Parts: sequence; C-alpha cells; structure tokens
Amino acid sequence: MGSRFGWCYELLSLNLLRQSLTEVAPPKPQFTEFNLPDLAGKIYVVTGATNGVGRELAKILYLRNAIVYVGSRSDARFYQTAVYIKTNAPSDCTGELRLLKMDLSDLPTVKNVAEKLLSEVKRIDTIWYNAGVMGHPTLNTTVQGFELHWGTNVVGHFLLNKLLTPLLAESARSASVKGSVRAIWVASDATLFAPSQGINWEDVNFSKGALQMTKYAQSKAAAVILAYELSKREADSGLVSLSLNPGHLITGMQENRPKWLQKLGNLVSYHPKYGAYTEIFAAFAELNPELQSGGYVIPWGRFGSPRGDIVDGYTNKGTGTRLWDLLDAQIVGQA
Ligand SMILES: NC(=O)c1ccc[n+]([C@@H]2O[C@H](COP(=O)([O-])OP(=O)(O)OC[C@H]3O[C@@H](n4cnc5c(N)ncnc54)[C@H](OP(=O)(O)O)[C@@H]3O)[C@@H](O)[C@H]2O)c1
Repeated sequence: MGSRFGWCYELLSLNLLRQSLTEVAPPKPQFTEFNLPDLAGKIYVVTGATNGVGRELAKILYLRNAIVYVGSRSDARFYQTAVYIKTNAPSDCTGELRLLKMDLSDLPTVKNVAEKLLSEVKRIDTIWYNAGVMGHPTLNTTVQGFELHWGTNVVGHFLLNKLLTPLLAESARSASVKGSVRAIWVASDATLFAPSQGINWEDVNFSKGALQMTKYAQSKAAAVILAYELSKREADSGLVSLSLNPGHLITGMQENRPKWLQKLGNLVSYHPKYGAYTEIFAAFAELNPELQSGGYVIPWGRFGSPRGDIVDGYTNKGTGTRLWDLLDAQIVGQA
C-alpha cells in the first residue's frame, strides 16, 4: 500500500466500499439531542460554530443548558450565531454562549484565544475541532504561509490542541465518569482521496500544486491521524480522542464549488443537524476508553474504520508520531 495510488486499491476493497455507501446514505440516527442529559455547568468548546454543523452542535448543547464557547472569526458572526441559536429557545434555558474569537489561519489569534480561555475556565468537558475550509476562490495560503487547508484545518487546530491539552487532561483525570472528557477531530470521508498513508510527507504544502480536493483530503486525513496519536499520548489521563466523518451535509462548505456541483451534491446531502448527531455521538456515547479511544465515528453515530493504509500508517508505521513532530516543528516561533 506504499504506492502513491494506494487509495485506488483501497477504494476497491469491499469492506470500505460497503462502509462508504452507508456513509453516503446512513441509517436513521439513533443518538440525538433526546439522548443527552441536562448539561448545566458543563463547558464545551466548538471551533467553527458560526455555520453548518458546528452551529447545530452549539445549539443542541446550549438548549441542554451548557456553557458553549463558540469559535468565531468575528464579533458579528458570533452575534448572528447567537440570534440563530436563541430564537425559539425556551425561556427557562440556562445555557450560555461565549465568544471564542480566533482565526485558525492566523496562529497568534489561536494562541491569544487559548490563553484567554485558560484564564476563564477551570475545566473543559469536551472540545470539537470542527472548523474547516474546503477550497477558496482567492486565498491559497494562511497568514503564516502554510497551504490554506493545511494551515487552517491542521496547524491551527494542532496549536489549539497543544495549548489546551493540559487542561483537557486535568479535566479528564478529575471527571466523575471515566472517558467523558473528549477531544473530537472532525475529518471527512474525503480522506478517501488523500495521498498514500494520508500525508504527502515530502511536501505537505503541495508547493508544486495539487487538486483542491487532494489538499482538503490530506488535511482531513491529518485529523484522523492526530485523533489517534492524541489518544495514545493521553491514555494515562483518560482523555478520549476520536475522529469522525460528520456525513454529507448542506452547509457553507460547498459554497466555493460551481453552482451545478452544489445542486448535484445537495441531492445526496442532509440538513447539518444530522452532522451534529454524529458529533454528539462521538462526544457522549458510552464507550470503552481503552479499546475505543483513537477510533473513527461515521454518520449518524456509529464506529467505522478510516482508509486501510491510513490506519496501517499510524498503527504500524509511526505516522502519528511523525505528523506530531512535523507539526511541533511547524508551530515553533509562529505564535
Ligand atoms: N458539509 C459536509 O458535507 C462535510 C462533509 C465532511 C466533513 N465536513 C467537515 O465538517 C466540518 C464543519 O464544516 P461545515 O460543513 O459545517 O462547513 P461550514 O458551514 O462552512 O462551517 C465551517 C465553519 O468553520 C469556520 N471557519 C472556516 N475557516 C476558519 C478559520 N480560518 N478560522 C476559524 N474558523 C473558520 C467557519 O466560519 P465562518 O462562519 O466565519 O465562515 C464556519 O463556522 C469541517 O471540518 C468539514 O471539513 C463537512
């Protein structure tokens, strides 16, 4: 599977094909907002909570009375989101929405917001690394010069995770329910189109050019690998780390595609609330941390398996450590 086109063989694998079909047309969700308890006093962080899946997730948490840090690039987006979430909320809802203002494509803003968060809270119950970019009409790189998908989806979240892990680990250690504190990395079934083992190791920024889908897919494969690697690194603290494919959803993610492709995609896509169901399953469903941390969740809340060569990479070939080290080197002096 070391070949550059390892994924072609993977696509032909019957198991993966079977799973992929159920990811496109998933069975009815079994885990929804009605499965959640009252979350009063709990503290959650959602990056990219101003649109699509993240906004639906934040709404579910808020309506269950949680304190929700809403990752937003601007005050205006945060206030729009708050109106969306609070409209028709019951008058006795005690949920709270707090602004987490950062731009993942500009690392100092990530560092500033992490420091602010750490000064405000004594625990974090779960974080969803949900924000994402897929294609952009004009932007190719982040402020620090990384390829846009790599810099935003991967480096930005890696830095945030690095800064928040001590508090997440402490929260996991002191949790009354083992395995209830989690870090959730939002990936995609687009990982099917990622390079062999997920990462284009020689040139993660694709400086010689590549399809937008390849760049996006690599960034999502990185989420899968980082989820696994964090689960290993935090096995002692009990912090559970999972990745997921939220499902095919009608969100802002498609906005940079040609209109005809958007219309076609919408025929097999769902309301973003369904993606939020995948995300709450990953965060709240009962699991065995020793056996299931590091795993991969598929729509609308089932355990699945990522592409075989990506799994082989992090279980047998050390790609988790390799990626972690690479990102550690990339954030040095950047924030
Ligand atoms: N939609 C799908 O079919 C699908 C399928 C598989 C995986 N996913 C994944 O699901 C996640 C959520 O995406 P979505 O579908 O809900 O898309 P979306 O509607 O476009 O939402 C993306 C969110 O990320 C935020 N964001 C984008 N760039 C950012 C940056 N530089 N800094 C901070 N926040 C930023 C956006 O903020 P603004 O509101 O300011 O733009 C928005 O809140 C993504 O990780 C995506 O890769 C989606």
